[in-house]
Parts: sequence; C-alpha cells; structure tokens
Amino acid sequence: MRTAIDTPRRVHAAKQLRGTITLPGDKSISHRYALLGAIAEGTTRIRGFASSRDCQSTLECLRDLGVGIERDHDEITIRGCGLNGLREPGASLDAGNSGSTMRMLAGILAGQPFKSRLTGDISLSRRPMKRIIEPLSQMGARIRSAEGWLPPLEIEGGSLRPIHFQPPIASAQVKTAILFAGLMARGETTVSEPVATRNHSEIALGQMGAKIRCANGVISIGGPARLHAVSVSIPGDISSAAFFLAAALMLPDSEIIIRGAGLNSTRTAMLDLLRRMGAPLEITNLETAHGEPVGDIRAAFGPLQGAEIPPEIVPNLIDELPVLAVLGTRTEKGLSFRGAAELRVKESDRLHAVAENLRRMGAKVEEFPDGLFVPGRQTLHGAEIESYGDHRIAMAFAVAGLATEEGVDIRGGECVGISFPEFFETLERVAVRA
Ligand code: S3P
Repeated sequence: MRTAIDTPRRVHAAKQLRGTITLPGDKSISHRYALLGAIAEGTTRIRGFASSRDCQSTLECLRDLGVGIERDHDEITIRGCGLNGLREPGASLDAGNSGSTMRMLAGILAGQPFKSRLTGDISLSRRPMKRIIEPLSQMGARIRSAEGWLPPLEIEGGSLRPIHFQPPIASAQVKTAILFAGLMARGETTVSEPVATRNHSEIALGQMGAKIRCANGVISIGGPARLHAVSVSIPGDISSAAFFLAAALMLPDSEIIIRGAGLNSTRTAMLDLLRRMGAPLEITNLETAHGEPVGDIRAAFGPLQGAEIPPEIVPNLIDELPVLAVLGTRTEKGLSFRGAAELRVKESDRLHAVAENLRRMGAKVEEFPDGLFVPGRQTLHGAEIESYGDHRIAMAFAVAGLATEEGVDIRGGECVGISFPEFFETLERVAVRA
C-alpha cells in the first residue's frame, strides 16, 4: 500500500502557460545573508527570504549556534553575534539536503574557537567535501570527515592564516567557504577562480562592509573584518524561474511574466542561451537593489534552434541544465553540453537522472561522463518519473509532463520543497488546460 508520502505527484498535460508569477526569494542569496547576518554586528533584516527547505536548514544550524532569529512569513530578523560570538553547539548541526549550508557554514566554523559537527541527509552524506576540507585545513582548521572525504564533518576551528587559493573546480560554494574563513584570518586571503561563478557572496560581503576586491578573476578579502548588519530584500530565484520559462517555450501560444527575478549576470546564462536559440524574451523594470540586479521577465512561445552549450558557461547555468535538457527535445537541432561532470555530484547524479527519465518518456538521449546530447524534434510520452529525491529533477520533469498527451506521475515529488515549496501550486495556477 502506498502512503501519502510515496504517492506519485500527478502532473497533467497542458495546452499553454499563461499568467504572471512572483517567485520565492533566491536560495543562494538567502543562505548568504543569513550566514553573514549571524556574524555581523547589529540586527540584519531580510525581506523575501527563500521559502526553501535548504534555507530553513541554514537558519536551524545558526539557531543551534546561539543566533537569535525570528521569522514572520518571508521576513527574517537575525541578531548578529559578531565574528567571535557564536556558541559551541550542544549537538550535531544538521544541514539536511543542503550542500550550500554545509560548505559555506564550514567556512565560518573553521574560524571559531570550538568543536562542531556537521551532518546531512543520505544525499548530502554522499557529496564531496575534499574541496573545502583541503583549503580550510591549509588555513589552520582541523577537520575530520568520514572515509572518502564525505560528511559528517568534525571541525575544530581556531585562529586562521590567509591563503592564496586556486580551486580545482568551478564552485561558488567552495569560493564562499574560503572567503568566509578569510574574514577571520589575519591578512589577505585570495581566491583565483578558473571560471567565474555566481558572485552573491562578494556582493553581500561588500554590502556588509568587508574589505573585498574583485579583479581579473581574483577575489581578495582582508581579515579580520567586522561586518555591519544590513536591511535587504532578496530577489526572486532565477533558477526557479527557469522551469516556467522552459514550460512557456514548450507550449504553443504561451505567455508568462515573472516579476522581480534576480538578474545577476553570473546567473543569467540561461536567458542569453535561450535568446541565442531564438526565444522571445524581454526584460523590463530593471533596477539594482542592494547590489543585485532585479527585473521582470516576459517569455512567450517561439520555435527554438537548439545549441551546443560551451563548457565555459556551464557553471553559470549549472542548476538549469536538467530543465534545459528537457527543453532540448523540443528544439530543431537538439541540445548538447559537456564539461558538466559536477552534475553527477549534486543532490542526485543529474546526468543519469535526466537521461533515465527522458528515456522513460520515450525520448532518445546520449549520456557522456560529463554531459548529454538530447536530439531535437522529439515527442514526449506520459511515464512514471523517478525524482531521485532531487528537487530540480522533479520540477524539470513536471515541465516535461505538461508537454505530453498523457501527463506524468512523479515519484518523490514532494522534494520540490528543497528549493520551491510552492512549485506545483504555482504551476497549476498558470497551466491552461481547457
Ligand atoms: C550554489 C552554487 C552551486 C549550485 C547550488 C548553489 C551557491 O553549487 O549548484 O545550487 O549558492 O553557491 P557549486 O558551487 O558547488 O557548483
């Protein structure tokens, strides 16, 4: 017998997508202001804080570290403890499903004069941590992990020394962990990025008064640095917008307006790519709020050519690749990308998950160690989808389901709450069926 939790989530076919939506606050930016607010001086106020379960995990870890946090719907108040005011936690800090929480918080814990232990769920317990353990250890933290550099992490923090770090992989989470640790090291810490990744940490650190400089791919931060509290609004999550943009581009006569989306250029590679493929996208009401560009996106249906995504832009649309692969089935020439081996170590092995679910829907797809080729002009059929407990897989294939005749059933669909708890309700509001 199936219980409510494992009853697959049904998504029916739709004719069009029409309407105006506002998205929950950006997950990446929400994590950063929560973490930095906790070590700032004064009270930080965050409006539009993400409803995502991952961001809730960050707040819970911070509460366990003695930070006073109040929440009133999407408004958060954080009473900052200063760089040295966090309290040794009485139990393990549970990062849940959130790689961002574990990696970025590790950067802060590395500089605290106490021991802490970071754990996560089954998916997070399989995700690579060598990428932060090595540089944070070089800075002076003592970190123990499970075999294979996996969580849980036991961190014995203390005084840190600055390093010059060249991450071997493009990762904003790793960059952030080192910059946050750099706040507590005496002197200048630098990170030289192989490819530019999302720069929300740099912007937030600047807003809070850190001595941070960015030039020619090198980011430097001076420590020890005192941060001051801020009052900020978080823009809508562009990575959540991606599902609605893709759906509008798959269903003829669709037109959708997304209000107040974050449009930071380190996150908008998908918009540029869609435009290059011929998508009619328009940006209006563009402004900058607290250093982050924000605006409205209007997307309408239009035929798409397809594309070979260059590896150098992969880090800037890493979270959008699953839904782009689904969209690839509806392009003229198909869609391909390489240089995305990182997708194998996200919340699930996303290359495998996408390929497997596309095949279940009757589509052809070629899987490489670091990418996919999805031929164009394909018809998708109804199927039972396996989400692998991965929010972006569940949402990408909900979009695929709209474009079938039969609809899809998504196993483990409730995982959308990791980034977008209101996803299915929002989709139902704009899906036109009659
Ligand atoms: C994130 C960076 C990306 C992304 C993740 C959020 C962030 O991960 O996939 O969803 O907020 O910095 P990596 O930096 O590990 O690629």
